[in-house]
Amino acid sequence: MRAAVAAAAGATWNDGEPILTRVTAPGALACEARGVGKRYGERAVLDGVSLGLRPGDSVLLRGRSGSGKSTLLHVLAGIEPPTEGSAWLAGQDLATLDATARARLRARHVGLVFQHFNLIPDLTAEENVRLPMELVGAKGGKERALDLLQRVEMEAHARDFPGSLSGGELQRVAIARALANDPRLIAADEPTANLDEASALRVFALLAALAADGRAVLVASHDPLALRFFPRRCALHEGRLAWDSRAQS
Ligand SMILES: Nc1ncnc2c1ncn2[C@@H]1O[C@H](COP(=O)(O)OP(=O)(O)O)[C@@H](O)[C@H]1O
Ligand SMILES: [Mg+2]
Repeated sequence: MRAAVAAAAGATWNDGEPILTRVTAPGALACEARGVGKRYGERAVLDGVSLGLRPGDSVLLRGRSGSGKSTLLHVLAGIEPPTEGSAWLAGQDLATLDATARARLRARHVGLVFQHFNLIPDLTAEENVRLPMELVGAKGGKERALDLLQRVEMEAHARDFPGSLSGGELQRVAIARALANDPRLIAADEPTANLDEASALRVFALLAALAADGRAVLVASHDPLALRFFPRRCALHEGRLAWDSRAQS
């Protein structure tokens, strides 16, 4: 039964763990954890976690507070190295890169969305969206920033500073910023934790739609509203990743 469900979801098997995608050329995956373990001292936060996202995959990562959701996102984004196994981003084994190369790869291929939005208060919405493009030396930033703000229906607020925007508006700007360098992976960590229900629904709908554009979208959230948008779900419990098979059928 589990195998049938996994097959239906396009999953293969890897050491008994379902992963979402067939591991062919590593380049075909936006990101991948292979047998990832992460320890802080004695505490094993992640234990043998394998997960791969192809362009177009969206996955909801659940698990109670402290279960390691943020840690897994950080490993996949190349922010934290795993203590066991390997993490791959855009076809590259992150362990083979130095800190500068990892940061460059992350700037190019990962868009991060945070619970607290993390916009720069002294920059307008448009300047916040432009910033990641400037960091990688991309041209045409202003026009692209305005296009991205339109994508999240925030073009009317392009010249506004974060201080004058609501939580839902801030998160939409943050999503536009995450898209700045056309990343393969969007990783959102509790993106609706500080939003009202209407804003949360809008943010989840936007994130889910990004997968339809061909991005890999990984959303860590314990917000029940997320269930409406992400049929593929997994959860961390005691360091292990388990798939919600009901959701995949
Ligand atoms: N830098 C760190 N040093 C020590 N322990 C950490 C560190 N980061 C996270 N942890 C611990 O790892 C566990 C998982 O944290 P986290 O990934 O933030 O969980 P979640 O996002 O699911 O709430 C927690 O017990 C947390 O205290
Ligand atoms: Mg967290």
